Amino acid sequence: MFYNCKDTAVPNYNNHAVLLFFKYFYRIYMHIIKTANVLSDYLTSIRRDNPKVTIGFVPTMGALHEGHASLVTESTSKSDITVCSIFVNPTQFGEAADLDNYPKPIEKDIELLMDNGCDILFLPDYNQVYPTSYVQQKFNLNDLDLKIEGASRPGHFQGVCNVLFRFFHIVKPDFAFFGQKDYQQSIVVKRLAELMDSAPEIVVVPIKREPHGLAMSSRNVRLSEKGKMNAAFIYKAITQLKEDTEDMALTDAVQKAKQFISAQKGARIDYLLAVDASTLNEVSHLEEADSIAVVTVVEYEGVRLLDNIILK
Ligand code: PAJ
Repeated sequence: MFYNCKDTAVPNYNNHAVLLFFKYFYRIYMHIIKTANVLSDYLTSIRRDNPKVTIGFVPTMGALHEGHASLVTESTSKSDITVCSIFVNPTQFGEAADLDNYPKPIEKDIELLMDNGCDILFLPDYNQVYPTSYVQQKFNLNDLDLKIEGASRPGHFQGVCNVLFRFFHIVKPDFAFFGQKDYQQSIVVKRLAELMDSAPEIVVVPIKREPHGLAMSSRNVRLSEKGKMNAAFIYKAITQLKEDTEDMALTDAVQKAKQFISAQKGARIDYLLAVDASTLNEVSHLEEADSIAVVTVVEYEGVRLLDNIILK
């Protein structure tokens, strides 16, 4: 496999059939673009020559795994061209150490993207994403950014929205793909899309799990092999919770799940909450909202493991 790592000019696509040919071609020859203007000019020229073309966008911070790959696959099946980005966004990190220690296995990431049919990788540096003229914005996220994860990570979701705001302007995708794995993020991003004039359709892709149930995450590499197997108790707890709500009060089912998790050696619950799936407000009864999600973070072997399930 080959990839083109230069910001080169791109072929002139003058009809859809030629575009599809090149899409096939790009599966073995992914374009890597590091400059925002080059990427946006490239996509503008494709759109000009192929007005019906659809562009899917998968933003990531790298250290990719099968969960990210499932977003790419979803994008390739829904859009003509798939653009992925890898950028470890400083504005969404609280601790400088977390940012510095974020893994960057770029060669492995490139291979995974090519294997899964990504057409263009956007690999910008800080100045491409945040030129000196860019002023960080404060979005009105209806307080969605202040709840649950946001309560312990001030500014995190505003940081996520700023980077996505920039990316959506550069790529102008028809669809943007996010994992249900980061449930609150997916809700915040839908709100960001409401605030933007020409936002993409936000597509939320189901959580990709290990065979025994642990949600895939870049953080799982920090678990021991045994820990990775054991950590399936989180998924077990929330699937059982969902089943329990068929004949048990919601608060009792939540309590039972918490007890089950707390009984696992070395596990510490950060939170386990039943929330209105749209407002993220905590609920006590199934009748309180049209759709309810259970969101949880459990610390295990020193790793914060996020998971969630839609109850109804
Ligand atoms: P990152 O953590 O790299 O995740 C990129 C996307 O992959 C997110 O939409 C996330 O929900 C999704 N994802 C991660 N694990 C998944 C799994 N097991 N199954 C399905 N999808 C999964 O989230 C971010 O980056 C950043 O905040 C970003 C949106 C790129 C903005 O900087």
